[in-house]
Amino acid sequence: MRRAKISIIGAGNVGATCAHWCAAAELGDIVLLDIPATEDMPRGKALDLMQSSPIMGFDSNVVGTTSYDDTAESDVIVVTAGIPRKPGMSRDDLLSTNAKIVTSVGEQIKQSSPNAVVIVVSNPLDAMVQQMWKVTGFDPARVCGQAGVLDTARYRTFLAMELGVSVEDISALLMGGHGDTMVPIPSCTSVGGIPVTQLIDAGRLEEIVERTRKGGAEIVSLLKTGSAYYAPAAACAQMVEAVVKDKKRLIPVAALCDKEYGVGGYYVGVPVVMGSGGVEKVIELKLTDAEKADFQKSVDAVKGLVATMDELLSA
Ligand code: APR
Repeated sequence: MRRAKISIIGAGNVGATCAHWCAAAELGDIVLLDIPATEDMPRGKALDLMQSSPIMGFDSNVVGTTSYDDTAESDVIVVTAGIPRKPGMSRDDLLSTNAKIVTSVGEQIKQSSPNAVVIVVSNPLDAMVQQMWKVTGFDPARVCGQAGVLDTARYRTFLAMELGVSVEDISALLMGGHGDTMVPIPSCTSVGGIPVTQLIDAGRLEEIVERTRKGGAEIVSLLKTGSAYYAPAAACAQMVEAVVKDKKRLIPVAALCDKEYGVGGYYVGVPVVMGSGGVEKVIELKLTDAEKADFQKSVDAVKGLVATMDELLSA
């Protein structure tokens, strides 16, 4: 049986760490690509990872490159190319630079891997994934963004810390854009099956949601030279696994929503079923009026970001 081919565009912190998680879980053979200016860096990281395989006990092949020829006919492509945040920057501050990078990456992917499922991680995420879809012209089911798995993981971590219980027992859902407007859905958040609202009062829960909203900025302010990468990379690896193993995971993903939730053709974080076809189904929940209003605010923020991106790209 042929192993899945996973290409990771951008061999920086998120890209290389994603390669690490994917290789360790034997999700497939991995190609790690970066720009020619990085010269041999992706080859060095790939070789280093390969040399960990006898110790860690995995048989994934890992190749580093600066040529899209090596990524040809990939099954899954993770796009981490771009610049990360520095302290004091918002994700939106990356818009102009990363939009141009994502555009050029999308043009290459369209030629070299026309059947791939593409998972975008570059920020500001919701705008970058919209641009990737526009540039590739792929079926929207095959273009999606990683944000919700990470945001939910941060939320679950903070809830577990608060309650002193295992993270494994916490199930949660956050929707909307990847940023300050993300929307918690308390009715879909439980601890060992118990609704979270029975265990944490509303005021404290809001504080934990606020820490989650600012979870990326908290890491940026601690690292000082870049943004988070272990958890973002692990979140990508979970999405790659859902595709290559056709797992039908029900997870929050930035997916194109048209009639769904009345969004009207924008990428936004929603619960989906993810399998070998990419986003195989968007799950539509009945939201409360307050949740609907917050979700709409989040969608409006995404629309504003996409409009600014389009202006910058056409200038
Ligand atoms: N093609 C391929 N790789 C590129 C391109 C391009 N056109 N432009 C830049 N890169 C590469 C850089 O050379 C660098 O190696 O992308 C890599 C980015 O790595 P880091 O600077 O370490 O950034 P990282 O922390 O991995 O974040 C990447 O993911 O989470 C988001 O906000 C984050 O947008 C950022 C992205």
